[in-house]
Amino acid sequence: MTTVFLELRNLQKVFRVGLLARKVTAVRDVSLSLRRGESMGFLGPNGSGKTTSIKCILGLIRPTAGSVKLFGRDPWDIEARAGVGYLPESPYFYDWLTPREVMNYAGDLFGLDRTTRRTRTGALLERLGLGHAADRPLRGFSKGMLQRLGIAQSLLNDPELVIYDEPLSGLDPIGRKEVLDLMAELRSQGKSLFFSSHVLTDIETLCDAVTILNQGKVVAAGRLDALLDRGALEVEALFELGAGGEAAARALLAVEGSVERERTGARLRLAVPHDAVDALLQAGLAAGAKLEQLLPRRDSLEELFVRKAVRVEARGESQDSQDAAAKGQP
Ligand SMILES: Nc1ncnc2c1ncn2[C@@H]1O[C@H](COP(=O)(O)OP(=O)(O)OP(=O)(O)O)[C@@H](O)[C@H]1O
Ligand SMILES: [Mg+2]
Repeated sequence: MTTVFLELRNLQKVFRVGLLARKVTAVRDVSLSLRRGESMGFLGPNGSGKTTSIKCILGLIRPTAGSVKLFGRDPWDIEARAGVGYLPESPYFYDWLTPREVMNYAGDLFGLDRTTRRTRTGALLERLGLGHAADRPLRGFSKGMLQRLGIAQSLLNDPELVIYDEPLSGLDPIGRKEVLDLMAELRSQGKSLFFSSHVLTDIETLCDAVTILNQGKVVAAGRLDALLDRGALEVEALFELGAGGEAAARALLAVEGSVERERTGARLRLAVPHDAVDALLQAGLAAGAKLEQLLPRRDSLEELFVRKAVRVEARGESQDSQDAAAKGQP
């Protein structure tokens, strides 16, 4: 079996809306690939084309241009679909059904035999903390419980790849933690995750790679550690100035690249570039200041995301006017 689980090449999706069939370009140019065992976060602000891309990946809508390969096959290929677990953006269930009924129905669609359906349903509902509610109608279930049912359903076919569209949205902190833990567990079982999110710091621990979209285009992509700029590493230090007082503060701030962050009484918090840490520590020792804290601060995914998203917008033109300009139109 192929090791490339998912591959998008120059994916484009244009919707036609309204009576005048006005064009809305939801996805302009998205290429990415995900290999067996890898996990990828699919990020982007509202309306950047995440859900549309995911629907193309699952064969729910057809791309206008470009290609999608799922396990090297067309996304609507039954065998390709059999290896995928999908959680839509807002999973919808009939509220008179019970979790067991929903699972049974889904298992039927996957072609699972009765015994497999029953055993997997029992095990998954239990594992997702829905065992006690397995036979209660969904009416009155919280958003978190419904999300967990959506996840249970996505795992019924024991997929190698799970594709989750905003799995954390609308959950309270406990619900989020549960879903995050579960996704971490899936990952440790060797499953590949491909999931969209706005909550960047949460997903850092879950993915090896990220693809960041803005206005339907990839604005940053790659392995997480490579994307987070190591060169921008900065270290924050907190000193108790002690007997050194004002002179110690001056000595610490005289270190090359040193910037004051906060000064409260006899305490000074400052930041220096990574390669100035030795000089800072020596200056502190010499001046009689006591080091209380030393924290490396790296460029976070959040900062990267904002920087990339803002960069596109800062050009001051919408993509449509750029496209028009490229075609020589006003
Ligand atoms: N069926 C549709 N018909 C017309 N326009 C659509 C349709 N689906 C999506 N769009 C438009 O395409 C763009 C991308 O939408 P999409 O839902 O893919 O974004 P998203 O990144 O998932 O956003 P969010 O973070 O809010 O979920 C938006 O401008 C949206 O209005
Ligand atoms: Mg979406």
